[in-house]
Parts: sequence; structure tokens; C-alpha cells
Amino acid sequence: MLNFSFKNATAIHFGEGQIKKVTREIPLTAKVLVIYGGGSIKSNGVYDQVVTALANHTWCEFSGIEPNPKYDTLIKAQTLIKNENIDYLLAVGGGSVVDGAKFIAAAALFEGDDPWDILAKQQPVKQALPLGAILTLPATGSESNGNSVVTRDGNKLGFSSPLVCPTFAVLDPSVTLSLSDRQISNGVVDAFIHVMEQYLNYSVNGKVQDRFSEGLLMTLIEEGPKALSENSKADISVRANIMWSATMALNGLIGAGVPQDWSTHMIGHELTGAYGIDHARTLSIVLPAVMKVCRAAKREKLLQYAERVWQITEGDENSRIDQAIALTESFFETMQVPTRLSQVDIGEDKIDGLIERLKQHGMIALGENKDITPEVSRKILMQAL
Ligand code: NZQ
Ligand code: ZN
Repeated sequence: MLNFSFKNATAIHFGEGQIKKVTREIPLTAKVLVIYGGGSIKSNGVYDQVVTALANHTWCEFSGIEPNPKYDTLIKAQTLIKNENIDYLLAVGGGSVVDGAKFIAAAALFEGDDPWDILAKQQPVKQALPLGAILTLPATGSESNGNSVVTRDGNKLGFSSPLVCPTFAVLDPSVTLSLSDRQISNGVVDAFIHVMEQYLNYSVNGKVQDRFSEGLLMTLIEEGPKALSENSKADISVRANIMWSATMALNGLIGAGVPQDWSTHMIGHELTGAYGIDHARTLSIVLPAVMKVCRAAKREKLLQYAERVWQITEGDENSRIDQAIALTESFFETMQVPTRLSQVDIGEDKIDGLIERLKQHGMIALGENKDITPEVSRKILMQAL
């Protein structure tokens, strides 16, 4: 196992009716900015619960954060923060709203010239407003980590700082009942691939991390399709298992002390930045191609994945790996997400442009071995056609 330091600073309030815990999590003296997206929280009752929970607080709101949050939208919150002396942020929504709130929190106290430098120049975040989250879409783990991804002019860039890790997060699985099938699928697949990025690497004998990861993968394989099936889509226990899996997939626990890949995500971000494809749908296209192109480097873990996650014990090693990749693709198909670029109308003619974007963003040595050069990324994209 590799050396590591681990701390997760987010207090989790999990279960139905837990939004009321916000009342005591945010100091009564705070001036709160409630941040949300396009309005789903107004139609599913979450907004009303927030209003009740903040009945004795001083608060105002900032809405309109879009999926794949845009810098131009987020920066508008700064005027409100200054005018109202805001000193606490409450994000209510999916990963985009939580990520957006993190950038707003860091930008509010940024001392440099241009807050975009936090992303473009990776300028360190030295201070940030405190932030809490009410999660409405299980997927990104953003509610319990320090990561944020923001888009400006088609450039989708990330930053990370413990200072923007939410101090608390409310995870009420019943609020996910209003999600569309598309968003449920996206969430399950994103969480699955977060685990894979931290699991499908060279082995360092991290038994706890491996078995936690395998448990999460198996839970998502079991519960994901149930959340799409008419018979079980209203089952809160299905939603609860998905929600907790998605948080655990990217709250730092399974990634501590093991190598991490993230090439699928970095290539996927270029597909979203250039063509607006949903985050998870870029990942379901890229991951199977990464598994195929990086098969030699990932061989030992691919065999472990085949045996422990898919119970494949028959056949020689190569055929067990082939079966595991095929079953991964068929799981994605069951979850109704694409597994080929052609399914999202992207042909070979677009690959040069995507490689250029990777280079522009410095993504030239990706993967757990830092050996996914632009040429290897090209092979991955060709494989995904
Ligand atoms: O804007 P509203 O009206 O809230 O609607 C949203 C949005 O249209 C809707 N939605 C959310 N909760 C709902 C709901 N609709 C009905 N009922 C509910 N309960 O769903 C749509 C998509 O929301 P979004 O927040 O964009 O989805 P997701 O949670 O998948 O977040 C994706 C973003 O997170 C980033 C992605 O790159 C992308 O920008 N990621 C963040 C990570 C992190 N911070 O660690 C890691 C991830 O890998 C990822 O990169
Ligand atoms: Zn992701």
C-alpha cells in the first residue's frame, strides 16, 4: 500500500427528512446564500424544506447554475455576496450546483487578479467561504470532497482544495425520486467509473481499498438497473444504496493509499467541453476503450475485477478479461448510456481536435503510470469509435 494521509471533513446527515438538520448546522448568526440550479428543487418540494429549515436565518438566493456549471454564471454571484455580506453558502442540487458553489466560495475570498486563475493557472486556494450541501442527485461525490469542475468557453477545468470541501451534506434518498431516468443512469455510471479510476490500476496490495471498491461496484451493478425498472424505481432502499455508494465512491476513502488513473475523466471532459455530451455519457464511451488499450498495464487488476466483481472463473486469462470488459459494456447498455463515439455522432474526423484540446490543457501524461500520452489517447479514442 502507498503512504497516505486521510481526512474527510464533511458531516453526513443521511435519510428521509434530514434536510431539517440544516437548521443547526448553519450558525444562526450567518448570512447565508442558498445556491441552486434550474428549478427542479422548486417542483419536488426540496426548496420548501430549505425555507422551513432556514426560517430563523438571514438568507438570500442565487439560482440558474446550469449542468456543467459555467464561469460566466458563477462569477455573477460575487456582487450579491459583497452587497449582502454573505459569509456561508448552502448548495442545493446535483454535482454542478455543488461544484459551482465551491468555485463561488473560493472566488469570494480570492486575493489574485482573476478568479479564473484558480482553474486556468491552478493558483492555490488560500481561503474560502464555508459551504454546506443538500444533494439532490447521487453521482459525483462533490458533496463530500474538495473537487470542483467549471467550464469557460468550452474549456472544462477542475480544481481541488480541502477548503471547499462541504462542512456538512444532507443525503435524503427520497429527493432523488424526481430524477429522470437519464439522470439516474448518469449518476450510477459516473459513480461506477469513479470507483474504476481508483481501482483498475496496478496492484499495491491495498486489500481494504480493493474490497471496498468491489463492494461499491457490485452494489451499483445490482441497484442501478432497479432504479430504472418500473417495479422498483420508487423503492427508497434502492435509492439509498445508490446514494451512499456514489458518496463513498469519491469521498477519498477508497482512493487513499492506492494509485489512481483518471484518464477516462480527463478525456471525457474534452468531449463535454467540445460537444456538450453529459459527463457520465462521455465516461461510458471512454472507459471500455481505456480497458482495452491499457489492458497490459492493468492485467492483474482486470483479472481480479473479472473474478470478484463478475464471478468469471472459467477460461484462460485473456478470455476472462474479454468477458469482464464485455460485461462492463453490457452493464452500461442496461443503464441506457452509450459505449461508442458513433452513438453520439462523433466520427474519426473529430479526433485530431480532441487530441489538440488535451494538449492545450496539459493532459499529456495521463493514467496511473503517466504513460497515456496524446498518442495513446488517440488510440483510446480510435478504439471508442
Ligand atoms: O438544475 P436543476 O433544475 O437542479 O436540474 C438538474 C440538472 O438539470 C437535474 N436534477 C438534479 N437533481 C434533481 C434534478 N432533477 C429532478 N430531480 C432532482 N432531484 O439534473 C440535471 C443534472 O444535474 P447536474 O448537477 O449537472 O448532474 P451531476 O450531479 O451529474 O453533476 C455533473 C457535474 O459534476 C462534475 C461533472 O463534470 C459535471 O460538471 N463532476 C464533479 C466531480 C466532483 N466535484 O468531484 C467529479 C465528477 O467526476 C464530475 O466531473
Ligand atoms: Zn465523474
